[in-house]
Amino acid sequence: MVQLETQRLIMRQWCDDDIKPFAAMNQDARIMEFFPFVLNGEESAQMIEIFCERMQQPGFLYLPVIEKATGSFIGMVNLTPVAFEAHFTPAFEIGWRLAFDFWGKGYATEAAKGLIEYGFSELNLGEIVSFTVIGNKRSSAVMERLGMTYEGEFDHPGLPPENPLRRHALYQIIRAL
Ligand SMILES: CC(C)(COP(=O)(O)OP(=O)(O)OC[C@H]1O[C@@H](n2cnc3c(N)ncnc32)[C@H](O)[C@@H]1OP(=O)(O)O)[C@@H](O)C(=O)NCCC(=O)NCCS
Repeated sequence: MVQLETQRLIMRQWCDDDIKPFAAMNQDARIMEFFPFVLNGEESAQMIEIFCERMQQPGFLYLPVIEKATGSFIGMVNLTPVAFEAHFTPAFEIGWRLAFDFWGKGYATEAAKGLIEYGFSELNLGEIVSFTVIGNKRSSAVMERLGMTYEGEFDHPGLPPENPLRRHALYQIIRAL
């Protein structure tokens, strides 16, 4: 079972107490602005089950992020194989989603740094990508703070041409030798 720790955060396995705050996050329009869907409470609970199932396979990590100081669930990070084909796949992607009250504290960058270190040192990955909808400046800013390099734009193949969320910015980080 993977458990990661940074200065202010713990990333651990899911537990029942995470369902409520995870569901609240997935129904918050400020958080879901750049997602093509929102999830109701039941769908969020099912999503956690799917995460746990997928994590049985090596290399799939979907981890809740806990604030050490309070024990609060503050969001999630993931490090997983990219689930579609594109010019940069096969590849591992990193992602993040935080509850609104925990934005602006450096937590997404801190959690992602821990996960990238794990990906390089324990999963032996050579590189990790991340991507986000062009307008999602906060997410691109996390990628830049992590030292990822901008690799251009692409159309997300999972979204139809008319969808305004289709165009994405791609970033990459390569393991130092
Ligand atoms: C994307 C997302 C995780 C970014 O959150 P964020 O709070 O902007 O990013 P961080 O947690 O890295 O915090 C960085 C900010 O904290 C500030 N900060 C405050 N205290 C800090 C500290 N001790 N250490 C580091 N940074 C700190 C930084 O200066 C920075 O502020 P700024 O945005 O005003 O420049 C968040 O906006 C989110 O969950 N969005 C919705 C979901 C989403 O779109 N996910 C991405 C899909 S691709």
